Amino acid sequence: MSANKSPKTIATINFKGGVGKTTVTWCLADTLSTYSNASVLMFDLDAQMSLTQAIGLNEDKGTLYPAFGNWYEKSLKDRKTIFDAIDQYTKPGAAHFDFPIGYDFIYQISNTLHFIPSVEDLYWLELEVFDRDQMKDFMRRLLGKIAHSGKVADYDYVLFDCPPSFTLLSYSVLSCCDLVLIPVNPDFFASRGVSLLLNSLKMRIEPHPTPQIAVFMNKTKTYANTPTKETAFYMRQIDQICQRTSESQGIRATFFNDAWVRERVGIKRAITGGGVPPELVKDFQGLWQACLGVLK
Ligand SMILES: Nc1ncnc2c1ncn2[C@@H]1O[C@H](COP(=O)(O)OP(=O)(O)O)[C@@H](O)[C@H]1O
Ligand SMILES: [Mg+2]
Repeated sequence: MSANKSPKTIATINFKGGVGKTTVTWCLADTLSTYSNASVLMFDLDAQMSLTQAIGLNEDKGTLYPAFGNWYEKSLKDRKTIFDAIDQYTKPGAAHFDFPIGYDFIYQISNTLHFIPSVEDLYWLELEVFDRDQMKDFMRRLLGKIAHSGKVADYDYVLFDCPPSFTLLSYSVLSCCDLVLIPVNPDFFASRGVSLLLNSLKMRIEPHPTPQIAVFMNKTKTYANTPTKETAFYMRQIDQICQRTSESQGIRATFFNDAWVRERVGIKRAITGGGVPPELVKDFQGLWQACLGVLK
């Protein structure tokens, strides 16, 4: 991939916890890096650190990523975390953003899948950073630094696992991402949640240009390989909300009618060592194709 081409960026977002943001981010990144030649960079931006901890759990098995724990400790000690990057970026009086990019900041899970973990300190970000406007450009600047560092891979795709709220960090992601991907679940509360989220996204997004927004059903209940009647009902409801909000708010929100991910307990082991369960690989490939469709 040419060094000058900027990567496509996708942020997985929902105010709700437990809808599958972390799982879906990982499974998409894993599918993408395994079944294509793409080079993928994945961020954990959630102070709850689910993705970071899950990747660390592979340690126990001593198989997949035994080096992560040591690498992570060192990055904390050497002040090479995402929090340190923000600290540097927002330093009062700093003339420029001085944060060298290398593999002490980015962890290499595999040749084609690289990872920037989260830190608990992100909890304190809202208290420590006062200049909201300055913070808005943080992620764009950081991605620029990564692209021009010459020390790390040229990434084709960047995926963000975002926290279940609008933090300053997710704000800075929203103002530079190409696609906001919203997983929902087949339940009564989903449509209300999507409506709230879409309406507030409109207010938060800085048009550079306005990202695409895509909503899809995760944990789809199926019968004979198609969504059950109940799930299909919720899918239609959410599809209508996307259409209505797009018209009324002037945003571009698409519901993926044909790209859903089914509910399978095997997915629980996907991050901690098992990879995407074989019965879900097609679902994630379909989801990826749908994402590419709107990114074009
Ligand atoms: N398609 C799925 N089928 C079954 N369980 C799922 C699916 N997607 C996510 N889960 C489970 O739902 C729970 C919440 O997922 P998680 O990715 O942590 O959500 P979030 O990041 O939105 O809080 C986890 O236990 C996860 O294993
Ligand atoms: Mg999560």
